[in-house]
Amino acid sequence: MTISIIGAGYVGLITAACLARVGHRILCVEKNPSRLAILEKGQSPIYEKGLDEVLSEVFSQGTLRFTSSIEEASEHSDVIFLCVGTPSLPNGDVDLSQVEDAAISIARCSQTTKIIVSKSTVPVGTAHHLSQLMRRHSPHDLEFTLASNPEFLKEGVALEDFMHPDRIVVGCDQNQWRTLFEEIYQSWIKEGFPLLFTDTISAELIKYASNSFLATKISFINMISDIAENAGGRISDIALGMGLDPRIGRLFLQAGLGYGGSCFPKDIKGLMQTARNFGVKTELLEAVEHINADRIKHILHRVQKALGSFLGKKICLWGLSFKEGTNDIRDAASLTLVSHLLEEGAILKVYDPQAMPDFMEIFPPSERLSYAQSAQDALLDADALLIVTAWQEFKDFSPHRIKESLRNPLVIDGRNCLHENQVHQAGLSYIKIGEKS
Ligand code: NAD
Ligand code: UGA
Repeated sequence: MTISIIGAGYVGLITAACLARVGHRILCVEKNPSRLAILEKGQSPIYEKGLDEVLSEVFSQGTLRFTSSIEEASEHSDVIFLCVGTPSLPNGDVDLSQVEDAAISIARCSQTTKIIVSKSTVPVGTAHHLSQLMRRHSPHDLEFTLASNPEFLKEGVALEDFMHPDRIVVGCDQNQWRTLFEEIYQSWIKEGFPLLFTDTISAELIKYASNSFLATKISFINMISDIAENAGGRISDIALGMGLDPRIGRLFLQAGLGYGGSCFPKDIKGLMQTARNFGVKTELLEAVEHINADRIKHILHRVQKALGSFLGKKICLWGLSFKEGTNDIRDAASLTLVSHLLEEGAILKVYDPQAMPDFMEIFPPSERLSYAQSAQDALLDADALLIVTAWQEFKDFSPHRIKESLRNPLVIDGRNCLHENQVHQAGLSYIKIGEKS
């Protein structure tokens, strides 16, 4: 099939690369000129494992092209995926301007009707709203079909998630379009991945409900972790003991610095907006947010207790991205941590294998903030190591080398990712989440 995709960010680019890989002919529109320039060379502007290889494969096959023109995309195909951003507005409501602008541009330039598929995460009722908006802006008074096909990939393992999804959800209010989606996802259906058809409202709500449920699980285990930290007990054993019950499940019970990233924080707010619109109370979601916001204060309090004061202390920070496997720093714990620690007079040396260039744009190097060439270099002469992101290279780092490099042998592990026995054997003083220190 020929398919157009609007937006070449995390979702648009992975969708484009994977649909091209299974043989569809994809034209992907990106309006950011610097991003487009990189894409047109067949390279990826984001760090995602395996993406460079897939891009070069589909480029040489000629199944994926990039453009800045929505008009060209509309001519290329009758099926257009929207993969643009839906960030939060300052009041927490969803900013639909990117989705609306893209929909209006398609409506204005389309000579024939199109099926518009939203992969962007949007509030309940957006499909209906966009179909009316597009009709109003169509010079030919065309009616457009809107479908919702939410995306569930996780950054860091995005290709794997897209190619091996737990489910593909398609919300469409007209049943006659089902065969079109069966054709788009033919390769997945053949391999037995479930394709669930619903109405558009259910599909829109499945996405918000899924992300909010996962965020709730994380805040729940973090609350239990605070209890264990005071009462005694080990959060890893508690999470395992809970998770072995299949009704609970073991995943997303990792206590730590809380959830960050471009989606959980904004999607919890998006679901609250939807709940309010329909007169439903939001206390549960508010509690999830509060617990998450307190995680940073909580870790800072523990570090301060261990160090006495932050003033003039040299702290090494390992990890800046919101999770391992990505260079994405949107809503990352590191942003709040670095800003608090600098305010309190600490001297920081930070290291991340992928996220330093983006982080530097927000926090340029200064007298009290330097960027290390390596994890080893960041440790030298520090009063403490604070682990913020669980990159594999940190997990593999020898605790003996940590001990030799630090001035003061103190490790605060915000992701509980080091091997505890080895850390103790090396003679390090070790503060973990969810355990008394
Ligand atoms: P992003 O900000 O990384 O990418 C969006 C891209 O769209 C940008 O490159 C932007 O320049 C481009 N764009 C915006 N308007 C455009 C237009 N009119 N024409 C051409 N290009 C345009 O966003 P993202 O992280 O890929 O997220 C996109 C959507 O998918 C959001 O709704 C998000 O909630 C949802 N989502 C994201 C993830 C994720 O892991 N990041 C996972 C599932 C769902
Ligand atoms: C999340 C969802 O997992 C995806 O299904 C969804 O498609 C995506 O949001 C989205 O809508 O954008 P992502 O944000 O990429 O994916 O990454 P996650 O692995 O979910 O991690 C989110 C945050 O939660 C990270 O900061 C991570 O460190 C934290 N986390 C995760 C925990 O603190 N504990 C856990 O047990 C799991």
